[in-house]
Order: sequence, then structure tokens, then C-alpha cells
Amino acid sequence: MTEERALFIIFGGSGDLAQRKLYPALYGLYFQGRLAKHFAVIGTARRPWTDDHYHEVVKQSLVGAPGSAHQKTEFAEHFYYQSHDVTDAAHYVTLQKLASKLNLQYQLDGNRIFYMAMAPRFFATIAEHVKSEQLLSPDGYNRLIVEKPFGRDYASAKQLNDDISQAFSEEQIYRIDHYLGKEMVQDIMPLRFTNPFLENVWSNQFIDNIQITLAEDIGVEERAGYYETAGALRDMVQNHIFQIIAMLTMEKPSRYDATAIHEAKRAVLAAIKPYTPAQVHTNFVRGQYVGGDNLGLSYREEDNIAADSTVETYVAGRVDIDNDRWRGVPIYLRTGKKMPAKTSRIDIVFKPTKDNILPTTGNAPVRANVVTLIIEPDTGMHITLNGKEIGVSDAVSPFTLDHALDKDELAKAPEAYQRLLLNILEGNKLTFTHWDELAASWHFIDAVRNVWDNDKADGLAFYPSETMGPKQADELLSRDYRTWIWQGK
Ligand SMILES: NC(=O)c1ccc[n+]([C@@H]2O[C@H](COP(=O)([O-])OP(=O)(O)OC[C@H]3O[C@@H](n4cnc5c(N)ncnc54)[C@H](OP(=O)(O)O)[C@@H]3O)[C@@H](O)[C@H]2O)c1
Repeated sequence: MTEERALFIIFGGSGDLAQRKLYPALYGLYFQGRLAKHFAVIGTARRPWTDDHYHEVVKQSLVGAPGSAHQKTEFAEHFYYQSHDVTDAAHYVTLQKLASKLNLQYQLDGNRIFYMAMAPRFFATIAEHVKSEQLLSPDGYNRLIVEKPFGRDYASAKQLNDDISQAFSEEQIYRIDHYLGKEMVQDIMPLRFTNPFLENVWSNQFIDNIQITLAEDIGVEERAGYYETAGALRDMVQNHIFQIIAMLTMEKPSRYDATAIHEAKRAVLAAIKPYTPAQVHTNFVRGQYVGGDNLGLSYREEDNIAADSTVETYVAGRVDIDNDRWRGVPIYLRTGKKMPAKTSRIDIVFKPTKDNILPTTGNAPVRANVVTLIIEPDTGMHITLNGKEIGVSDAVSPFTLDHALDKDELAKAPEAYQRLLLNILEGNKLTFTHWDELAASWHFIDAVRNVWDNDKADGLAFYPSETMGPKQADELLSRDYRTWIWQGK
């Protein structure tokens, strides 16, 4: 296993993301041998920690991880802390000196990874100072990692992109969408493009509709401050759901590389039919959870949430792609908090068989085939087919082929952040979003958001916690004579 050489500079090194995700992910790479002797991490934030304290924080984040205490201590000794206010140019000079010193000490070949693990309002400032204070390495590579959210609408996303592009080229920018690091999302391409029995029916000739559900059973928890400014549309639809739509519906890329895949995704996202305000009303539903006995608090009663908040905790919608492959196939999407269970899944519903000649129980229509990809919490897929009922009956009845990814293999597979960090080290941009993809999804999302912002509370439907969301979400499908495949169990 080859060892990667790099210096990580983590802005927001004392924060939640760094401690919960990044340090365990870096350790995972160390444990695997992908990071060994030649790496170093500089964590920066304002609080005045010492290196020793920082090592303790890093070790604390590894509780439960495999490996000995000695291994964890050796790993933590690669970490350096610098107290730093990112808005203060002077600190970048100290940072540059430390970076140069560590580059020599650990023989890092000048490779630098700048990870912005802090609030997006600081991203432009950091990129600007990294450039002006010459923190970019003249040798090796410079890579910038940008966390979500990337903007709150097209205009702010474009501004942010223009700002960071002053210092980094598109090639050097890695925009995180951690859904792209999930096992079953990564499985979409192999499933689609190496199985002729799927590839050949992957179009409006055979597919009736596609359903994407990202359901959470928890409420807003401690993310209230952020959530009040975002809502489910920005938090889940613009990024994760649109990336899933792109993976499911893009044309076969000309090659298996990031440039070709980004181009295929961009093209299909640009083909999504834009909505007029009237079409937004008909095709999108927003809701907010309401608590009660045994159901916990209502959204409006949660800490740090306005008592008259109109922020949506639930979105359902219909999206149509205006190209030859997909014209006429609705993509129904939904995401919400306080739903009956946590699940992320994709249901591909095929057209029913034509001219059935076989008997069915009670003369019911033959069930449509459904291919379901379960992203989480289980990982695998189901295919619903039709066969003969067991026994003397001739009646046709549905059955399901289940494929669960091997639990032992899965337990050994790296967590999404570990995989993404490895991709960054390898310069593999397959699992990151290109600016053009983001621009296309923001254009669509802005049209929905603008209508909702003008309507304020009008059109916001309230749903009891632990249910499937407002009834209008069911009506989105029932008016098309369809139903959601996932009903909460
Ligand atoms: N947490 C997650 O699970 C998660 C998941 C997905 C995406 N994200 C994204 O990741 C980013 C970080 O989130 P987080 O949850 O880690 O936030 P957080 O816990 O609030 O951490 C923010 C970090 O920024 C530092 N900071 C704040 N102001 C600073 C300043 N002026 N100069 C230098 N450092 C400053 C803070 O340390 P000091 O107070 O010591 O300065 C802290 O280390 C956000 O973009 C978020 O949307 C987070």
C-alpha cells in the first residue's frame, strides 16, 4: 500500500466536523497505511490550545477506533495547533513558516491540502489570504476542500466560487458532498453500466417513475441556528438529492474519469425542466413537523427556532428531465425530519407488463417491477419481480430478490469521509461536485425558493412527527395515479 505525502491545514481544527469526522478519517488512513511517516496536520482556530492539548483532543476523537494506544499517540504527534483568527492576515505569515518547516521535517514534497472546516462566510477570506500571504506551495500540489453549504442561492454560490477561484483553479477545488462517498451511491455507476439487463431498460421506454427518499427520524437537534437559515430544500435537495438524480440519469460518460463524469452530470442537470411560479405550486410541497404527546416538541418550540418560523423541515417534489431518454418519467423526491424511520433509498419503478394473459389473485393488475437501492441505514438492493404463487394456484404473485452488502466487508469499508480524504490525496475528483453541476442545481432550487419566500406561511403544511409528511406529498403522486413505494416500514 503506497504512502501518501501531504500537509493538511485544517481551518476550524477545534470544531465539531474536525473532531467527529476528519480526525477519525485521517486516523483510518493512517491505520490502513495510506498515511504513515510523511504527513502532518496543522489545526487552526481561535481558542488558545497548546500542541499537547491538541494531541489529547485528537486522541479523544479516536475512542473506539481500532489500534493500540501507542499507535494513536504516534498518530496524534503529527498534529500541530496554531491559534489563529482567519480574518487576521498576520497569522498566515506564521502559518506559512510552520508549513514550510513541517514540509522539510516530514518530507512532504510540497503537497498541501487546505480544508475549510468552518462557517462558509469565512471561505472567501481564507482563500484570499492563502494566496496573498503565499501559503500556496510552489512545489507539489495545492488542493482546497470546501464543505457544504456552497452558497445559499445561485448568486451567493457564484460569488463564493469567484472568490475562491482567485486563488485556486477548478482542478484544485474539491467540493464535498458526502453522499457521493456513500457505498450505494458509488454503486450506481457499476450497476447501471455493467449490467445489460439494467442498462438496456434505463430509459422512458421502460421506466415509469423514479422515487428518491432521504428520511430522517430525528428533529433539528443542535443544528437549529444553521437550519433556520437553510431549511430542507437547501440542506438536502439542492446538493444530495440533485447529485443522486445526476448519477441516476446521466448519459454513460465517454470515459471513467472525473472530467467525463462531471460533463455527463452537468448535461443532465441542465436538462431539468425549469418551473414557473405556478408550476412550483403544483409540483413542490413543503411541510414542518408538529409534536404532541409522545411526539416531542414541534419545530417551532425547539431551542433557537423562531416561534413563527416558516422554515420547511420537509420537502416533496416532482422533477422532469427534458431529454430523449427521460421525457415523460417523473422523478419524485422527498426528504424530511421526524419521519417514522431513518432511511435513504431510491426506487426505480418500471412500467407494468403489457397485455398480461396470466391469472392474478382477484384479477388484480400485475405488479410493476421495482429496483430499490438502499443507501442507509442498511446497504443493498431489492428487485421486485413476478412469479407463480407456490402450490396449486396458477396466479401470478410478486416476490423480491434481496441483496444486502456483506456486513463484514462493510464493517471493513472506510466511512464516507475517509474515502473522500483518500480521493483528495490521490487527486481523484470523481466523488466531488463540479461548479457547473452546482450552478445548474441552484438555478432550479432558486425558482422554488423564491416562490416559497414570497408566499411566507401560505402553502406551508404541518405534519405530525413520526408520519410520512403532509398529505399533499401523497397527492403529488396520486394525481398521476401513482403511490410512494416506501411507506415508512
Ligand atoms: N459538523 C458536521 O457534522 C458537519 C457536516 C457537514 C458539513 N459541515 C460543515 O463543516 C463546516 C464546519 O462545521 P462544524 O460543525 O465543525 O462547525 P463548528 O463546530 O462551529 O466549528 C467551527 C470552527 O471554526 C473555528 N472558528 C470560528 N470562527 C473563527 C475565526 N474567526 N477564526 C478562526 N477560527 C474560527 C472554531 O473554533 P474557535 O471558536 O476556537 O475559533 C471551530 O473550530 C461548516 O461549513 C458546516 O456546514 C459540518
